[in-house]
Amino acid sequence: MTVTFSLNGETVSIEAAPTVTLLDWLRETRGLKGTKEGCNEGDCGACTVMVTDDRGARALNACILFLPQLHGKALRTVEGIAGPGGSLHPAQVAMVEAHGSQCGFCTPGFIVSMATAHLNGRTDHDDALAGNLCRCTGYAPIVRAAEAIEGIAAPDWMRDTPPGVDVLPEAPETADALAAWYEANPDGTLIAGATDVGLWVTKQFRDLDKVAFLHRCRDLQRIETGSDEIRIGAGVTMAALLPMLRGRYPSYAEMVRRYGSDQVRQAATIGGNIANGSPIGDNPPALIALGATLHLRKGDTRRDLPLEDFFLDYGKQDRAPGEFVEAVTIPAEAPSLRVYKLSKRFDQDISAVCGAFNVTVEDGAVTSARIAFGGMAGIPKRAASVEAALLGQPWTAETIVAAAAKMGEDFTPLSDMRASADYRLKTAGNMLRRYFRDLSGETVSVLEVAP
Ligand SMILES: Cc1cc2nc3c(=O)[nH]c(=O)nc-3n(C[C@H](O)[C@H](O)[C@H](O)COP(=O)(O)OP(=O)(O)OC[C@H]3O[C@@H](n4cnc5c(N)ncnc54)[C@H](O)[C@@H]3O)c2cc1C
Ligand code: FES
Ligand code: FES
Repeated sequence: MTVTFSLNGETVSIEAAPTVTLLDWLRETRGLKGTKEGCNEGDCGACTVMVTDDRGARALNACILFLPQLHGKALRTVEGIAGPGGSLHPAQVAMVEAHGSQCGFCTPGFIVSMATAHLNGRTDHDDALAGNLCRCTGYAPIVRAAEAIEGIAAPDWMRDTPPGVDVLPEAPETADALAAWYEANPDGTLIAGATDVGLWVTKQFRDLDKVAFLHRCRDLQRIETGSDEIRIGAGVTMAALLPMLRGRYPSYAEMVRRYGSDQVRQAATIGGNIANGSPIGDNPPALIALGATLHLRKGDTRRDLPLEDFFLDYGKQDRAPGEFVEAVTIPAEAPSLRVYKLSKRFDQDISAVCGAFNVTVEDGAVTSARIAFGGMAGIPKRAASVEAALLGQPWTAETIVAAAAKMGEDFTPLSDMRASADYRLKTAGNMLRRYFRDLSGETVSVLEVAP
């Protein structure tokens, strides 16, 4: 397919196989080797580039970005961060002055992340840079460099204008066009953010010849807020979801803040996180605890189902060939929702266990309970026995202890590199205890606990 985008200010049109990664193309075809290959799976940020479309500029990992995902966008690599005459970007000057680089391998990625965050006026440097790993300098000088350029105007050359482009059948512009393509090509692969699919290619060396990219379907990227419900389009990224979550479900938002890195959140969609059926996806437990409804579509036929019914078994979902996730709907309010993500590394790590709790207490007794976990079974799953042990009972520490003891009736978790089965069971029960304390107003966040 012919893919058109702007590269450091110059429009390029290239014939691209669907799953050539931007990183490979930059380094092997274009000879732009400032963009580094570290992990080749979205973890280290050495390959960070800046991509601009009509919604603004964002930092993305080039190693899991396919060339067609750039169609109609503007790309700036580290070679385009310095000015046209070679004048350094303020981030580059600040990194030199703060001694933010030693071996230099990570430095191009940090510079692009920092320059993108600076362009967007961000000052949450820890979050903006959490997806960039440095093995020698240490993060303090790098964060000091980011702080040093706060308030300095972004150079004009950083403000890219994406080129006008033709519509490609493999990059449909609407959900209707996508539905028609997928119904006609039910054996094809949908690619939304490619934060999963990218690894099928870079790590599993899979060939995907028949694909459709979802990034141009703007009608799948809407968040529609009603008085009772919020409908989230399948193409909404984790980064786009975050501001809405912060206002309504702060605990869910705090989990999403730790979901991958900024580069991952800017690409990863909620539809992809549901459709991949992963037992350790972080959104499904929260959405199930909220009582979410999933909206599926095949051609012009739509059907709705409770999200928990979508996950049938490990690797098996209730989705027909040619059927795709169009949206998910959640209630507009859930003041008792809490989401706890437990991972070995605080930032940018996959959950060992992710627990979501939504219990209603009236007149001192539990009147409804929705509790769901990721990492405890082959699918994201409700804790039915625990919920039953809570319903109708007084909301007391004794009830919680009795309910937590039921965790083993609901789950037989696996032992793997992230956690042992025993640890998972124990920690799930402890999350319920934490929830009780959280709703009682105690400090339960590790970021807030003081000596
Ligand atoms: C470094 C890194 C960190 C990560 N951290 C986390 C984390 O903290 N928590 C977490 O939960 N996940 C994490 N992930 C996994 C991944 O980011 C998520 O699963 C993500 O939400 C997938 O969305 P996507 O848009 O990138 O999906 P894609 O990779 O594009 O697609 C994933 C699957 O869903 C299908 N698909 C996509 N959209 C649709 C649709 N609308 N309808 C039907 N099928 C569809 C695709 O065909 C594919 O099978 C991480 C991944 C990486 C690389
Ligand atoms: S090479 Fe590590 S994130 Fe791309
Ligand atoms: S300076 Fe060596 S990895 Fe960061």
